[in-house]
Amino acid sequence: MNNPAKAATTGTPPGGNPFLPENEEAYRRWRERKLDSYPTAAEALIVEVGDPCRLTDAEAAAILRACRKTNMAIYAGPAGRGANKTVPRAVGERFGLTHLDSNMLADEDGITSLQTVPGKSQRGYIPYSNKRLLWHTDGYYNSPAARIHAFVLHCVSPAADGGENSLLDHEIAYLLMRDANPDYVRALMEPDAMTIPANTESGEETRAASIGPVFLVDATGNLHMRYTARTRSIEWKQDAATREAVGFLEKLLGGDSPYMFHHRMAAGQGLLCNNVLHNRTAFTDDVDKGIARLVYRARYYDRIAGTNLCDIFG
Ligand SMILES: [Fe+2]
Repeated sequence: MNNPAKAATTGTPPGGNPFLPENEEAYRRWRERKLDSYPTAAEALIVEVGDPCRLTDAEAAAILRACRKTNMAIYAGPAGRGANKTVPRAVGERFGLTHLDSNMLADEDGITSLQTVPGKSQRGYIPYSNKRLLWHTDGYYNSPAARIHAFVLHCVSPAADGGENSLLDHEIAYLLMRDANPDYVRALMEPDAMTIPANTESGEETRAASIGPVFLVDATGNLHMRYTARTRSIEWKQDAATREAVGFLEKLLGGDSPYMFHHRMAAGQGLLCNNVLHNRTAFTDDVDKGIARLVYRARYYDRIAGTNLCDIFG
């Protein structure tokens, strides 16, 4: 196998799309297979690789296997190799990720260097600060045309202390919510469930308001999630159903679900995922010792090839 990123299979699996609340039978079948041998520790996601820019077929297959199960994998390459952005770009391309999101904070090549740069963090750019990041999916404020379906985080160097990620497969979040009460996912599939108000700088609108659902079954039949745990600059639909659903999700993310993975990336490691839920603890650099966290982030409009619903459950 030269490239696991074979032609995408999209559409509706036989029996209907399991993510639609009315398809109970399809949901039951999908749920059973999803939970079968679902890993319970981040170690299960780690694939040792010799050179992330030239993955062997066996390495790529192991990464794809993890992604098909959990929507994420952690590749572990040698430290020191990731001093340039070739690595996240090459990893993405190997898995069919080619359409990079160039947000206004990305460097010119569309890949963002996440590091503490005093000048930038003082201007309020959160990705450049060492503060904790609350649970979210990437691009929750993007327009529907610019939905983020996947991203790569490549760790060039970890912080002196902290900077651990927690990760939760968004399909598992959906599953746990639907199991608890199908009305929760129904509420969060409403097209006006979550609004991120327009962004304005000095009176100029730099981004339009983003109004949309939390859970969306997109045109490819896959489940997309749009979420942030932040409480400022976000407006939830003002009804009891939405409030209860959001409350359940907050509790889930604030707890310690066995489905949640915790991992502190070492130098040379990277996360490849279908935009799963994630957060990050605060971190500290040790400038005197020359230890500073540097992570490259590449966000894509594509989904990891070979991980479509129909590829797995068709
Ligand atoms: Fe993120």
